[in-house]
Amino acid sequence: MPETTKDVVLECRDVSHQFGEKKVLNQVNLEIGRGQIVALVGPSGSGKSTLLRAILGTHPPRQGQVLMEGVPYRAPHRDRGIVYQRYSLFPFLTAEENVAFGLKLDRTSALFRLFQYPQWRNIRREHLRQAREFLERVGLGAATGHYPSELSGGMCQRVAIAQALIMRPKLLLLDEPFGALDESTRESLQLMLLQLYQENLTARRQNEPEPHTILIVTHELNEALYVSDRVLGLSQYHHDGHGGATIVYDKPAPIFGPGDEKDLMQFNAQKESLLSAVFSEEYIQHHSEFVSFWQDMAQAQRTTAS
Ligand SMILES: Nc1ncnc2c1ncn2[C@@H]1O[C@H](COP(=O)(O)OP(=O)(O)OP(=O)(O)O)[C@@H](O)[C@H]1O
Ligand SMILES: [Mg+2]
Repeated sequence: MPETTKDVVLECRDVSHQFGEKKVLNQVNLEIGRGQIVALVGPSGSGKSTLLRAILGTHPPRQGQVLMEGVPYRAPHRDRGIVYQRYSLFPFLTAEENVAFGLKLDRTSALFRLFQYPQWRNIRREHLRQAREFLERVGLGAATGHYPSELSGGMCQRVAIAQALIMRPKLLLLDEPFGALDESTRESLQLMLLQLYQENLTARRQNEPEPHTILIVTHELNEALYVSDRVLGLSQYHHDGHGGATIVYDKPAPIFGPGDEKDLMQFNAQKESLLSAVFSEEYIQHHSEFVSFWQDMAQAQRTTAS
């Protein structure tokens, strides 16, 4: 379970967005704490990608504010990484070169690389070493020298995730990252996300800041409940839905370690409640009825303390 002491990485304050006359987001309020792995689900067209783009900073919201560690922003920054459904690798670079690419742009200039070639060569070697380390962490240690055309879709997606992780973003955004993959590949990538969750747990035990804060959009409810420790529902099906979608569900998820047995009863109960609160056009409730993540966390902490 995540800590309830609020070390907030990302905040959305009354974020609303519209395209022309079409109202898409309606006063989205949200705080994501460091080390949380948050799944965002919602009906198709409810505005999940629109919200992600606002958080990324490429498409700031029409109204409201997005803040990182308390500072409002309206532009992209390396603190926020993103991986899309369709991998965006350079076909002419090997896996390790693809992963090291962001470091190259971030840490050196073209002039430096041209005029300080010997130093650049050493830095380059170090970047590639780091890239191999990150590829190892996503289970691709054996494919470092391969080009994207020599890798499967699942492997390319692992490279894209390593590419994002190597920049050590404060927040990693994943928009349907496994949507194009077959079932078994998808499962192995879900396990990889759980490994990242384990890295958070290890850091927490050692009183260090958790390295991974992740917001993942997924269509798959099983996936949402399986990989996250918090589930958010964004939906237009609520009492003020004509103004657009808002957060209508926000609860802790039953987290599973990579080797854990799944508690199917708990899993199914939460799935049922997500289906009615977020996806059902018939079931219209006040938007805050199922929004209780922070209260639930505070309650769990009080129970543990007593
Ligand atoms: N650039 C745009 N111009 C006009 N309308 C847009 C634009 N981008 C998105 N929309 C509309 O905004 C709504 C929300 O779109 P968005 O892509 O954010 O939904 P989504 O929840 O990510 O959907 P999906 O689950 O299908 O990916 C949709 O009705 C879409 O048609
Ligand atoms: Mg989308």
